[in-house]
Amino acid sequence: MPVKQPMAERPWLITGATGLLGQELVRQAVGRAPLCGTFFSRQPDPHPAVAWAPLDVGDSAAVHALIHALQPAAIIHTAYRKTDPDLWRVTALGAGYVAQAAAQVGARLVHVSSDVLLDGEHAPYDESARPGPLHPYGFAKAEAERLVAQAAPEAALVRTSLICRLDPPDPISAWIIDSVQQGQPITLFTDEIRSPVWVQDLAAALLELATLPFAGILNVAGPQPLSRYAMGLRLARHLGLDVRGLSAGSSLASGLQRPRNCTLEVSLAQRLLRTRLRGYDEGLESL
Ligand SMILES: NC(=O)c1ccc[n+]([C@@H]2O[C@H](COP(=O)([O-])OP(=O)(O)OC[C@H]3O[C@@H](n4cnc5c(N)ncnc54)[C@H](OP(=O)(O)O)[C@@H]3O)[C@@H](O)[C@H]2O)c1
Repeated sequence: MPVKQPMAERPWLITGATGLLGQELVRQAVGRAPLCGTFFSRQPDPHPAVAWAPLDVGDSAAVHALIHALQPAAIIHTAYRKTDPDLWRVTALGAGYVAQAAAQVGARLVHVSSDVLLDGEHAPYDESARPGPLHPYGFAKAEAERLVAQAAPEAALVRTSLICRLDPPDPISAWIIDSVQQGQPITLFTDEIRSPVWVQDLAAALLELATLPFAGILNVAGPQPLSRYAMGLRLARHLGLDVRGLSAGSSLASGLQRPRNCTLEVSLAQRLLRTRLRGYDEGLESL
């Protein structure tokens, strides 16, 4: 039997620490606990307070080796792939490997899930909502939830929505800003409704959740549901950009197989967490 370090000295592990969410988790977690962040293709900048580890989450042996060597007190699992060829291997199976290893070493696990595993036809969704995925990414995130709950029943499974950042802008916001600035007209859907969440709030909520005994699904997203078109208009106006290049379109009419209204009900998170989840407008004004 390995001798376990006292909880306080055991590190926290953040998978996907080079990503949009992972970077903010690292930024906020530095100084709270010894920290290990994993990367896959992007070599992170060295940081004196962060031990960086390369990891392919879809490699079961590598996941087990890292987590057993590290014996983390907590793991926040963000790493994933949105598209093939590695979608299932990394996003679904990889989450299961992380959960198995977390359970074996007694690590608190916070798994990051997504609103797009829902069918988009029965909004708003509370934590009892069952997955009804429509596309491969949704299926992979649904299977990830199933595997995590099976291997680590004490884990928190956080369903979140569009993750927003202003400085520098998240990829979708950057696309909107660049298109408008270059006079490139774009169409944004009025019938795809999401619960955008500011990355600072989501990261703070996940770190807080890592210290709480909450088990099961928790919706952690913004309290202001908006269509992609409404978000684009708000963002462009906030930045003083010309909104004439933004047109309203219909996801349904486009024929895309995507959930339309994924509004998440966030009252449980608002009661459980001290972290305040700001709506999109409030974040634009305050960040
Ligand atoms: N972004 C959103 O709007 C949104 C909405 C709902 C839910 N989520 C969920 O939030 C989580 C984080 O999303 P994000 O936007 O921060 O993602 P992201 O910016 O695309 O970052 C993805 C991370 O996963 C890592 N990664 C990729 N392939 C890997 C592999 N085979 N093994 C290990 N790590 C791998 C990447 O590492 P490298 O960069 O080093 O390659 C990166 O650190 C995901 O679980 C996602 O499903 C995101």
